[in-house]
Amino acid sequence: MTTVEPAVLTDVPGWFWELDRHLFEWVLDRQSRTGTRGDLLELGAYLGRSAIVMGRHLAEGETLTVCDLFESEAPDEENAAEMARFYRETLSRAAFEANYLAFHDHLPQIVQGPTSSLADGRIPAGSCRFVHVDASYLYEHVAGDIRTARAVLQPQGVLVMDDYRSAHTPGVAAATWEAVLNHGLRPICLSECKFYATWGDPEPYQRELLATSGGAPGCGTSTDTVAGHRVLRLDGRPTPAFPVSRHHDRLAQQHRLAAAERAATELAARRAAAAAARRPGAVARQVAADLLPPLLSDALRQVGRQAERRAGRRG
Ligand SMILES: C[S@@+](CC[C@H](N)C(=O)[O-])C[C@H]1O[C@@H](n2cnc3c(N)ncnc32)[C@H](O)[C@@H]1O
Repeated sequence: MTTVEPAVLTDVPGWFWELDRHLFEWVLDRQSRTGTRGDLLELGAYLGRSAIVMGRHLAEGETLTVCDLFESEAPDEENAAEMARFYRETLSRAAFEANYLAFHDHLPQIVQGPTSSLADGRIPAGSCRFVHVDASYLYEHVAGDIRTARAVLQPQGVLVMDDYRSAHTPGVAAATWEAVLNHGLRPICLSECKFYATWGDPEPYQRELLATSGGAPGCGTSTDTVAGHRVLRLDGRPTPAFPVSRHHDRLAQQHRLAAAERAATELAARRAAAAAARRPGAVARQVAADLLPPLLSDALRQVGRQAERRAGRRG
């Protein structure tokens, strides 16, 4: 697969939209502001779009680990079918690495394999402040990923679940709400695509989000109660600044040249169309072509062409 150099984050393919990018940055910044230290973990990295944002928030001594199958075999048939349907054509570890290195000096720690391999305790218990679960959509896998997240998160750490309510991901919905209803997970807030929660106290996060209307201009909040849990719903399209890749200046110059060429071509086409419209009989010929029976309009077209030739000889 050809790797296209990304100039800005949105050049990296993926499913990570503005509101969630803002919420990732907000949670991670808030943790830094309040002196919370710890590692970051992502299950399901694809081509790096969310990992690149997480990597921007590493403080000295902290580690980002990403776990993805990339080109490896899926551990079961259903997971293999999911991989074939959504990712196989576009995904490679090399492409992930190239994208990540366009924005950062060093790669994260990469575990290539199923997320179930993390259940062996290789990520130390209680070492993480932030975990993003965005790998398989199958219930059994997601339930396992949530157990791993619980083991590695600090008490006040934040878990983000992707696709907790999409039409094609009922297994994620089931595993996420099961963790809330049966295993002590407490919701902080919901966006359209992601579920933010903690096994600690969600109140300080919620208080600040409510006080700042979601933490950014363009955001809105509303409140629900679900089985006794307060849940904030966030909406809007904040416009956080995009991280810019190290290829940005060179590619930006190429993009500017390409845009200038496109504009020149369009201008030439518009001028040619305007000149054609000014030729004698142009409007009448178009009306005739639209309305008259074919034989009659062919005859009129011939008359028009003769008139054009005469006009051409004059010009
Ligand atoms: C939705 S994509 C991740 C998107 C990425 N977080 C982003 O924002 O761009 C899901 C990823 O999970 C990986 N995946 C699926 N099943 C997996 C499994 N059992 N173990 C590890 N990774 C898996 C796929 O290879 C794919 O890259």
